[in-house]
Amino acid sequence: MAEPILSTAKIVMKFGGLVSVNKMDFDLYEHEIVGIIGPNGAGKTTFFNVLTGIYKPTSGTVCYHGMDITGKKLYEITALGFARTFQNIRLFPHMTVLETVMLGMHTRTKAGILDALLRTPRIRKTERELEAKALELLNLTGLDRYRYEYGTDLPYGMQRRLEIARAMASQPEILLLDEPAAGMNEQETADISFFIKKLRDIGYTIILIEHDMRLVMNICDRLYVLDHGSMIAQGRPEEISANPQVIEVYLGKEE
Ligand SMILES: Nc1ncnc2c1ncn2[C@@H]1O[C@H](COP(=O)(O)OP(=O)(O)OP(=O)(O)O)[C@@H](O)[C@H]1O
Ligand SMILES: [Mg+2]
Repeated sequence: MAEPILSTAKIVMKFGGLVSVNKMDFDLYEHEIVGIIGPNGAGKTTFFNVLTGIYKPTSGTVCYHGMDITGKKLYEITALGFARTFQNIRLFPHMTVLETVMLGMHTRTKAGILDALLRTPRIRKTERELEAKALELLNLTGLDRYRYEYGTDLPYGMQRRLEIARAMASQPEILLLDEPAAGMNEQETADISFFIKKLRDIGYTIILIEHDMRLVMNICDRLYVLDHGSMIAQGRPEEISANPQVIEVYLGKEE
């Protein structure tokens, strides 16, 4: 089997006396959709925060393409090829869909801050190129018809999609999606499932936190199940749905 592109060993994240993530071993292979599931407070988002450099783990290691990236900062991790969305929508007000995506691209531009202040020919060329790329991305994500609307005015499902488009704008290898279908109706959920599968098919590798079991079982290649910070099971969706420990955790708690 190929080597994982991302791999963690015994990640522990403590906040004071609380162990939010406990000895998490996790592997991610190229072009997979891997789901992380588990009840509220299980440590899913905390694990994302460790992977993306928001938190430095208490112990354990994170390896990306064989390189130890444990404790690297958010901007370093972004530059390496990670991008995420958040559990709660975080769109900027008064910014159009096109501007939102263009802003997401700025981590990748060569022009410096001085170019931007002086509006040099270099920055004007860069802006034109950015806009063309942003439009391409909007086409791909089905957001082009909203390009001049404020992101916060979009229908709910499209706002969530815009967050994914903004993450894609930094040209990541790995997309981390924290509950992309939260609060969606059935149609929006079906649309976003289809969309996430399409992202995998065009080459992204995806880690997905999600409570919607039907979505998870439908689109994930593999799953990790967390409970109280510890991984209690991992495997293919059909293995997970037949796992007695997983069933107990889900039946024992209202989801
Ligand atoms: N910065 C922090 N300081 C203190 N405790 C934290 C911090 N971040 C997370 N926690 C705690 O860690 C535990 C795991 O939280 P986390 O947000 O990772 O859960 P989750 O699995 O994403 O849950 P949900 O499904 O509700 O989003 C919780 O008990 C939470 O209160
Ligand atoms: Mg969470």
